[in-house]
Amino acid sequence: MDGADAASVDADFAEAVLAGLGAERKYLLSKHLYDAEGSALFDRITELEDYYPTRTEAAILRASAARLADHLPPGAALVEPGAGSGEKTRILLDALPGLGAYAPVDISGEHLEAAAARLRADYPDLPVHAVVADFASRFALPEAVAGMPAVVFFPGSTIGNFTKPAARDLLAAFRAIPGVAGLVIGVDLPKDPARLVRAYDDGEGVTAAFNLNLLARINRELAGDFDLEAFAHEARWNADESRIEMHLRSLRRQRVRVLGRTFDFADGETIHTENSHKFPVDGFRAIAASAGWAPVDLWLDPERLFSVHVFAPH
Ligand code: AVJ
Repeated sequence: MDGADAASVDADFAEAVLAGLGAERKYLLSKHLYDAEGSALFDRITELEDYYPTRTEAAILRASAARLADHLPPGAALVEPGAGSGEKTRILLDALPGLGAYAPVDISGEHLEAAAARLRADYPDLPVHAVVADFASRFALPEAVAGMPAVVFFPGSTIGNFTKPAARDLLAAFRAIPGVAGLVIGVDLPKDPARLVRAYDDGEGVTAAFNLNLLARINRELAGDFDLEAFAHEARWNADESRIEMHLRSLRRQRVRVLGRTFDFADGETIHTENSHKFPVDGFRAIAASAGWAPVDLWLDPERLFSVHVFAPH
């Protein structure tokens, strides 16, 4: 089986890989980390002792989600861009019995319908309207939801993958949803760099496998010949940009082929694969303000590792 025959190549992935590996400073796009293997590895990351964000955010939501009822218009629809497995969604649905509908938005229709079906089974009185769309572009809500006030739920510190200007654009796109009445967003906080690096270079090597899977994916889908033994996972704290960066470091001089093109690596050269920005509370509020959002509430864990902001349109 040839994963790289013309008909089966994902053109968006191929184009991005050739551009990124051909760049002066090599990079790959973090959204391409999440093929089936990558998504399964990410699910394992969320359960690691070293990776604090997922369980910390879930605990914050469990402790505080009921407070959201005070800020919600009755019959509001919960809109979740890039909806994941639904575990965090359930915490909100359990705490907010008055919701009028739930609308998960995701590019993967398959993933989305499976998650929607599970929620329908457990919340039989809640209308669930799955929206197949790229949440980073402006999307339309289905007729049944469009008349309701909308509350956007964006957990997981996914916003951390975006640079400041891109984060502002995304928050502005959420603000432009007709009838939008609120935004509940999980944002990881700056902290001891050693703790941060450990969260992205865990002792069990799962994050390393997650990062290296991107090279394996290129081998599988784009006729690549990356030697996975010749690259090492690296997580570094970039203090100037307040972000964790993931890189893949070439352990020797080497030449790699992808889709018939060749790419040369110097010994020690890296491919930048992901940014995970850590936003202090005031810094994130400033970005949100520039996108039309005013702070309404803020939920933190006792250790102040992670934040969940509640915003309303201003
Ligand atoms: C899914 C983007 C929130 O940045 O913490 C986890 C991705 N990368 N470990 C994060 C990730 C490596 C994660 N986000």
